[in-house]
Amino acid sequence: VKKLILVANWKNHPDSLSRVEDLINGLKKKAEVYKKLSTFIAPPLAYFESVSKKTKSFSSLASQDISVGKKTTTGAVEVDILQNFGVKLAIIGHSERRALGETNEEVSEKIITALKAGIIPLVCVGEAERDREGEFLEFIRHQIRLSLSGIKKKDEAKSIMIAYEPVWAIGKSSKDAVGPEDLTQMIIFIRKVLSDLYGRETADKIPLLYGGSVEKENAESLVRTGINGFLVGHESLHAENFQKIALALLNK
Ligand code: 13P
Repeated sequence: VKKLILVANWKNHPDSLSRVEDLINGLKKKAEVYKKLSTFIAPPLAYFESVSKKTKSFSSLASQDISVGKKTTTGAVEVDILQNFGVKLAIIGHSERRALGETNEEVSEKIITALKAGIIPLVCVGEAERDREGEFLEFIRHQIRLSLSGIKKKDEAKSIMIAYEPVWAIGKSSKDAVGPEDLTQMIIFIRKVLSDLYGRETADKIPLLYGGSVEKENAESLVRTGINGFLVGHESLHAENFQKIALALLNK
C-alpha cells in the first residue's frame, strides 16, 4: 500500500530561526508518525539549510515554488539550486502565486522544469468561489488541462501530484473548509479530468491531495473521502495539531 502524503506549507513563517527550532523540536517528538507517511516540509528559503538538516530523519524538503528562466534573474531560485539542496517536491501554481499573476502556461513550464530535475511537482488547482450552476467545475477542468499541457507522456503524468485547494477555504478554520461530500465529488471529478487526459490507469496513480483549512478537527472526516493526503498551511506551524492531522491520515 502506498503511503499517504502530508505536506507542510509554512508559507512565510515562523518569523525567526529560534521559532523554527522550537517547531522542529516539537515535530521531532513524533518523528515515528511522520516516517510512516510521505512527509514533506516546505519552509521559507531562508531556513532551508537548518530545516533540511534537522528534519531529514523523518521528512523530505520541499520548495514553495520554483523559478524558470535565466540564471541571471535577481531574486529567483533556480531549480538546480533546489535540486542540489535535496529538494524532493515543489509546490507549483499555489493560488497565492497565481494571485500575483502566475498563469497556467507558467505553471506548465514549471512542472516540466521540476520533472526534468527529478523533483515531484505538486500542482495546485482550485476555484475562487462556488456557484450553484457548477461553473466552477468547468474552471477546474480548464485549469488542470492548461496547467498540465506540457505533460504528454503517461510516465510523466504518473510522477506528478495534484492538490485541490479551493481559494475560498484557505487560511480560515475547519468549519469553513470543504465538507467531505463536496470533496468526494471533487475527487471523482478531478480523476475524470485526468482520465480523459491520460487514461484511467494513469489517472488512478496520480496522488490527489486536499488543502484549505485542514485542521485537527476536520482531518478525520476528510480522510474518509479517499483523499491521498493533505497540503497543510497554518496548522503545520503547530506541532501538536499537525501531529493530530498526521495521525488522522495514519488511522485511515
Ligand atoms: P491553510 O491550511 O492555512 O488554509 O493553507 C492552505 C494552503 O494554502 C496550503 O498550501
